[in-house]
Amino acid sequence: MLNRKDLLGTADLSKEEILSIIDLAEQYSNENIKNVNNTRILKNITQINLFFENSTRTQVSFEIAGTKLGTNIVNFPLKTSSQSKGETLLDLASTLNSMFPDILVIRHPKSGAVQLISEKVKCSVINAGDGNHEHPTQALLDAQTIRKRLGRISGLKIAICGDIAHSRVARSNIFCLKTLGNKIRVVGPKTLIPRGIESLGVEVAHNMFDGLQDIDVVMVLRLQKERMDGGFLSSEREYFHHYGLDEKKMQYANPNAIIMHPGPMNRGIEIDGDLADDINRSVITKQVEVGLAIRMAVLDLLTRGHPLRKKCQEQ
Ligand code: NCD
Repeated sequence: MLNRKDLLGTADLSKEEILSIIDLAEQYSNENIKNVNNTRILKNITQINLFFENSTRTQVSFEIAGTKLGTNIVNFPLKTSSQSKGETLLDLASTLNSMFPDILVIRHPKSGAVQLISEKVKCSVINAGDGNHEHPTQALLDAQTIRKRLGRISGLKIAICGDIAHSRVARSNIFCLKTLGNKIRVVGPKTLIPRGIESLGVEVAHNMFDGLQDIDVVMVLRLQKERMDGGFLSSEREYFHHYGLDEKKMQYANPNAIIMHPGPMNRGIEIDGDLADDINRSVITKQVEVGLAIRMAVLDLLTRGHPLRKKCQEQ
């Protein structure tokens, strides 16, 4: 059970809360395959998606998740809205309050912006990624994908490789996977690993040979160039040579290790294209499929006990 108004990150989620989300997602995942009609579950609930930053899979995934549960979805048109005319986030929050949405899904380029809005609105808020801070539904879908593929989600050794410094996916995964009882190692060049990250309880390696030893899950991250202000990399070619996941480097990991990537993927920069397509080891497309079920579970759990939902169930 999720007894909270918002889902802003994984840092403060308990093991029980994480498992309740991925257990329900497991049910939705099975029902999606069987094409079960769940459109009455969130009938009458109004969901507004506000994406202040480009997104393909996350936004579409939240839209389909809402549609499958029957929410009324509005995509806030940010390019044409008063945001582009300089409206502050707090003014936006009060505008939204006056429209009586039941749940907001927000992505924003600034860390902390989603929390700020959540404190000012009466409805539930889901963080769909804020700056380099958190992206909780990505971490939850990664945990569920690992459980589906490896049959467990604790006692594993997981390497998160690449641009840790600019990655909200890395942070949310560290919190979530550690709470579930896994060992995490971050792997990357010194310039892309924040100083002091050991304080989060992770091991650090600066080369793939040391980084992938004994590893069950290899998570590869995109170079977040849009968040870099220069000086982090010499060249992409050199980066691929040292850190790009390819067949040779994969040999350092455990023989049954799986490969993950949150997407969008840059083939030939952080990962070799053939390896990404290797269905025996790569679970990258599975992550997208599981993402839909996780978002259905989160929308569902955050609106349990909602008066409109109760009314709908009584009908
Ligand atoms: C990630 C994000 O936006 O943080 N992508 C995603 O949500 N699927 C990772 C990325 O952009 O590299």
